[in-house]
Amino acid sequence: MAKDSLSITDNRTGKAYEIPIAEGTIKATDLRQIKADEADFGLMTYDPAFMNTAATRSAITYIDGDAGILRYRGYPIEQLADRASFLEVAYLLNVGELPNRDQLAKWTHDITFHTYVHTNIIKLLEGFRYDAHPMGMLLGVVGALSTFYPDAKHIDDAKNRYMQRVRLLAKVPTIAAFIFRHSRGLPYEFPRNDLDYIGNYVNMMFSIGGRHEPNRVLQRALEILLILHADHEQNCSTSAVRSVGSSHVDPFSAVSAGIAALYGPLHGGANEAVLEMLDEIGDKKHIPEFITKVKAGEGRLMGFGHRVYKSYDPRARLIKKTADEVFQQTGLNPKLEIALELERIALEDDYFIKRKLYPNVDFYSGLIYQAMGYPTDYFTVLFAVGRLPGWLAQWEEMLNDKDQKISRPRQIYTGAEVRDFVPIEKR
Ligand code: CMC
Repeated sequence: MAKDSLSITDNRTGKAYEIPIAEGTIKATDLRQIKADEADFGLMTYDPAFMNTAATRSAITYIDGDAGILRYRGYPIEQLADRASFLEVAYLLNVGELPNRDQLAKWTHDITFHTYVHTNIIKLLEGFRYDAHPMGMLLGVVGALSTFYPDAKHIDDAKNRYMQRVRLLAKVPTIAAFIFRHSRGLPYEFPRNDLDYIGNYVNMMFSIGGRHEPNRVLQRALEILLILHADHEQNCSTSAVRSVGSSHVDPFSAVSAGIAALYGPLHGGANEAVLEMLDEIGDKKHIPEFITKVKAGEGRLMGFGHRVYKSYDPRARLIKKTADEVFQQTGLNPKLEIALELERIALEDDYFIKRKLYPNVDFYSGLIYQAMGYPTDYFTVLFAVGRLPGWLAQWEEMLNDKDQKISRPRQIYTGAEVRDFVPIEKR
């Protein structure tokens, strides 16, 4: 009869073991009973980059990478992008259910009335050079929030955690907008509580002399992009938030670690790298030459490939649709032509087909951001504003999970055997 267990024979000792299987996994610590002899530490698994290790159980986001499915709390991303607001999605991720009218009103009120930041944040920003990378500023300033809210260290108190999550969701767009203004040498535009979340964020970035004519199509497009980025289960930055948060540090410090991880070009920084790549290609006629270089291992086709998706990233499909609406407002981004041709050629090329490399979320998002008026080095900040609800939901889930402890991987030591210290004159 079929049994939910794994039979293992250790050929070093001839001993047999039966390891339970639950939810398609075995517990790595169950392997520790398998020892070559009494002194042996016990068997471990070697899994750099967590290619095949579930580090948590999670009820937040479901991805089927082969089928191209993404759901937040069970709701298909396509429906949320079509019908939900960003704050509704943030509530859904953090609380577990879509809010009713009263719940949404309270959530929106709580976040709206925490959008101001301490004026010392402005002094902090002024310490950065005019050309400081926006992501470097964002991770520094969000980390510094922990010094403004020392009460955030009480991570065992659920009410306190709610307050810090509200503070982060409220203040990160303000900080992100101030960073935008700092880079341009523009005076800071303060939050306006009469505007909605996206309207206020856009106003703080683009208002000149207190005036800004909102473009609802572009604001909704930005909202959709933020929704598409809101969570993506155990990705690099979320794992960073969980791992750093597992030390029980305050959430501002943990989120700042997530921002640092997102900054990298293999993660959120890819949207910026895509635009640099399109600039480098410059013209459709140079695409074949560029693809040849990529296939020879000289650089990557940025915005292509994903650790989990082995088919078209569902977010990229939705972004392509949003791009059409944006370009109707802004006029066509001339680089779109190169991107479309690059995609067409890559999807017909054996190298990409064999490795199941398809456009990911970052392939088209940069083109939209650029058309909306954001500079290239600001794209990843928009990704961070979008991913924030996911980081916070995952942080909260991690702290409530009785299975979790401080994150601490094992290693296989490959260094020197014990040896005696050599005085400097004898080296
Ligand atoms: N261009 C060319 N070749 C690629 C690419 C690419 N973009 N991505 C993967 N490959 C090749 C890679 O060289 C390897 O080939 P081989 O088997 O011959 O050595 C094979 O495909 C498998 O690649 P991998 O590096 O083992 O795959 P991974 O799961 O470790 O990496 C990835 C995933 C996203 C880091 C990678 O696909 C990549 O570097 N893509 C470009 C950067 C990018 O667009 N990142 C954004 C990801 S989506 C948003 C986010 O999560 O932040």
